[in-house]
Amino acid sequence: MSIKIVMVVGARPNFMKVAPLFWEMNQLPLVFQSVILHTGQHYDYEMSKVFFEDLDLPEPHYFLGVGSGTHAEQTGKIMIEFEQVIQNENPALVVVFGDVNSTLACSVTAKKLFFPVAHVEAGLRSFDMTMPEEINRKITDTISDILFTPSRDGNENLIREGVERNKIHLVGNIMIDSLVTILKRINPSDEDKVFQKFGLKKNHFALVTLHRPSNVDDKNNLWKIINFLSHLSLRIPVIFPAHPRTKKNINGFNTNDAVNGNFKIVEPLRYREFITLEKYPRFVLTDSGGIQEETTYLNAPCLTLRPNTERPMTITEGTNELVTFENIEEKINLILSGNWKQGKLPKLWDGKTAQRIVDIIKRMEL
Ligand code: UD1
Repeated sequence: MSIKIVMVVGARPNFMKVAPLFWEMNQLPLVFQSVILHTGQHYDYEMSKVFFEDLDLPEPHYFLGVGSGTHAEQTGKIMIEFEQVIQNENPALVVVFGDVNSTLACSVTAKKLFFPVAHVEAGLRSFDMTMPEEINRKITDTISDILFTPSRDGNENLIREGVERNKIHLVGNIMIDSLVTILKRINPSDEDKVFQKFGLKKNHFALVTLHRPSNVDDKNNLWKIINFLSHLSLRIPVIFPAHPRTKKNINGFNTNDAVNGNFKIVEPLRYREFITLEKYPRFVLTDSGGIQEETTYLNAPCLTLRPNTERPMTITEGTNELVTFENIEEKINLILSGNWKQGKLPKLWDGKTAQRIVDIIKRMEL
């Protein structure tokens, strides 16, 4: 009998993490039966469906359609819906990814019904409890039975928190598996099309993504950012694919007052378009976790507008640095004058993480 595994996804950064594992398990149909459950935390076409298309994922087996709401509403709705499904499916293992509300909701629900839980991307810590993701990570890690970590700092954090060593497996960064795959699928003519579409030249633009509540929910702060970016665009073209919540907040502004060089605010991009741009920026400015990692892999300079990161390897080994409003100008000058550090690849960010996870799960008695 095959091992039934329910894999939970909900928000954009989950999709590139489930795909490699789904395909790896799919190669062993006699060993695994994998069920993809999408909570519907992200539901817009460009936040969800396009990722399934670009990652060649089938329609999810379950779509809970919970949508947005406050943290409590969203988490609660996911728990209520997930409880029904999981009891019907009765899987041998539930796999959750990353740090979004769906990760927390489904790991807690599964665990209370005595289903074993595996957490992929375990052990990351920003040590900033004002971030909803930090709460989601800590709770999920505390109750999970199997913890797959992307880098050795993850192991260190978990061990310090008292997690038993035999639950922790350093497997590498699964998101890099998807990145490696999509890079092989993007050919030079695809790249030309993307650059034409956005009217940009390779290595001569800044790619910006900002969506963290700390940056975009405070109107004054967001206005400061938008103003800064429009000034920056007098020096270098700026493209800003804006997350729906960022977009909503920007829509409240009268941006006519902003200086306008070459500054484009566009809809969220599909995976293959975003990666194409991310391959050739002069630099990236972001507050996303995944983008700090992708730029390290791609050796693209990355400025992270946050006071902390749960992904320190991207700074110590990669191309990333944290910036504030006080020093961002100085850091941009360094990049534009060609004086940025060269990164190296953290260990096990090699596109084979899903394989390592499957090998470990196969050996377990579930
Ligand atoms: C979530 C994750 C965050 C991740 C981000 C990536 C949590 C706590 N946060 O944040 O870690 O980095 O996804 O995108 O889980 N909305 C839409 N359409 C959508 C999805 C959202 O319009 O498809 C709008 C809604 O108004 C919603 C808001 O965006 O209220 C925020 O969505 P939500 O899923 O609650 O959190 P994110 O900010 O996307």
